[in-house]
Amino acid sequence: MKKKPLIISVFLIIIVTVVGIIIVKYDGQTEQPAQKKVVYLDPEALIEDRVQDLLSKMTVEEKVGQLIQAEEKSVTKDDVKDYYLGSILNGGGSFPELNVEESSTRELWEEMVDSYQDGALATRLGIPLIYGVDAVHGHNNVKGATIFPHSVGLGSTRNIDLIREIGKATAKEIKSSGPNWTFAPTVASVQDIRWGRSYEGFGENATLVADMGVAYIEGFQGTSISDLKQTSKVVATAKHFIGEGYTDGGKNQGDITQYTEEEIIEMDKEIYEKAVKAGVRTVMASFHSIQGLKMHANERLLTGFLKDELGFDGFVISDWYGIQQITIDHNGNSVSGLKEQIKVSVNAGVDMLMQPENWRETFKLTLQLVNDNEITMERLDDAVSRILRVKFEAGLFENPKTDQSLADSFGSEEHQSLARQAVSESLVLLKNDEVNGQPIFNQLPEMDKIFVAGKNADDIGNQSGGWTITWQGESGDITDGTTIVEGIKEVASNKTVTYDVNGKGAAGYDVALVVIGEEPYAETDGDTNDLNLKQVDLETIQNIRTEDPNIPIIVILVAGRPMIVTEQMDDWSGLVAAWLPGTEGAGVADVLFGDKDFTGKLPISWPTHLDAYDNRDKFDEYILFDYGFGLSKSEVTP
Ligand code: GLC
Repeated sequence: MKKKPLIISVFLIIIVTVVGIIIVKYDGQTEQPAQKKVVYLDPEALIEDRVQDLLSKMTVEEKVGQLIQAEEKSVTKDDVKDYYLGSILNGGGSFPELNVEESSTRELWEEMVDSYQDGALATRLGIPLIYGVDAVHGHNNVKGATIFPHSVGLGSTRNIDLIREIGKATAKEIKSSGPNWTFAPTVASVQDIRWGRSYEGFGENATLVADMGVAYIEGFQGTSISDLKQTSKVVATAKHFIGEGYTDGGKNQGDITQYTEEEIIEMDKEIYEKAVKAGVRTVMASFHSIQGLKMHANERLLTGFLKDELGFDGFVISDWYGIQQITIDHNGNSVSGLKEQIKVSVNAGVDMLMQPENWRETFKLTLQLVNDNEITMERLDDAVSRILRVKFEAGLFENPKTDQSLADSFGSEEHQSLARQAVSESLVLLKNDEVNGQPIFNQLPEMDKIFVAGKNADDIGNQSGGWTITWQGESGDITDGTTIVEGIKEVASNKTVTYDVNGKGAAGYDVALVVIGEEPYAETDGDTNDLNLKQVDLETIQNIRTEDPNIPIIVILVAGRPMIVTEQMDDWSGLVAAWLPGTEGAGVADVLFGDKDFTGKLPISWPTHLDAYDNRDKFDEYILFDYGFGLSKSEVTP
């Protein structure tokens, strides 16, 4: 074989190879083999694949950290990183700066939440926080947010589409300030108005509650799981599971002895069936107990009914130190100490532990329980998988921080208008007497001189109720908004409108509108055995009567529930249930003096006396106004 051509061929091959190496090495344009994305970080991967991939990478400590929710005031950004915390909440009235109400602005909330998120993203696996707040009638912790009517008023509207729109608006205002999770809606069926949380529910009827709960959930989350990752959506919570409205005496966090678990499931299961079907991603366990067993320890209901029977695949969160109320387990064995309470609640089906200040202790004890197999690795992986699933579905890995584009929606005119509409539709007309041959409410627009009185006519705090800026709420000028009398002056601007809080000076006016009722409260602070009108309100009415024995009196009741008015109402020509309207008080005037009519219907029976609740067998004999009752302006009191 001739040597020359062979040598030339070999030489050419070497040259081409060397040149090729040089091109590949130095030609930035040369396509590197695509870096295969880690599955859990790949937004295109299936959620379940992302969950399993991430779970497989996690240490036990990282898994336990995901189960822990701390209160913002008791944790630092470094704690979030060092303990791999899964969640933070701000409880009612927990502002960006300790005890500084003025710090509760959208901007400072955004800064606070994003800072903690940085701590989570700095962990080895970069698992973002799910950050929760009680946005139960708007983003009510934050000054300037649109505060919608509390749920008892929304129940009066019977307007499912309106509730969904309120959920959408609230979700935007929440996300515009950082959090990505709301502990709402409360889907209790309210059975006893002595209960301090009556106003947080939509009413007494399970179907009404279920349908309104679904509408709120759809507004918050969207109508399919794929909507949830949209920047304008938040994770919702169906709470407080299950049957909290049935406690003996309406006692908050109390025991249910009048019904069995089966009966509670039978009465309230529609609520959770529909919430789960609507895709609610979290459920909060209730403080109360059934036949002595705390819901936080009730494996049959949390796991057997909610997860297994209804197929709920989101996660269950405990309530505020709720696990620490456990004293017996579902076998009747005594439970004492935090370690046993953690064990019992997690094994019963609680996936995330709301342990506001003692989260470190909770982390340590939970880790011990797992290492000692008292909480099995299988159960731990189940809880972590549920939490990770919701975080992936909510798009938190792709968008963990506040979206600046939502800032304009916070307290927007559009949302205020929606809230004003909700106020108008929430009003229930209970008494509409004929005066001079005409229903009094048909006459209002033609009257020239309007006298307004009462402690709730000019008080944003009173008309918003609990869970507003602070946990309990408070009287006074606590946030931006329009009071009821400001709304009347705006809408009836062509009339003489005079306001006196004590009802002095009514003589010579065509009508007296007396805006009275309750002052703010929340939870157990609202439990009561006395729903009579307050003395100050009775005195206001008396002052009017003293000056003018004949002036028609219309009472507008701003309260979280029905009040006992049986003895007084005969002297009134009109009675309106306005519930807790929130910041857009002008919605009341839109009906009184505008072209809107009353459309609201009672979401809850209105008793003549609280004895009704201790005489269930004769309850109907105590009814003053039935569930579903509500007049229009032209309908005279029956
Ligand atoms: C409260 C309430 C619950 C709320 C939680 C966080 O005690 O029971 O509705 O979501 O604590 O604030």
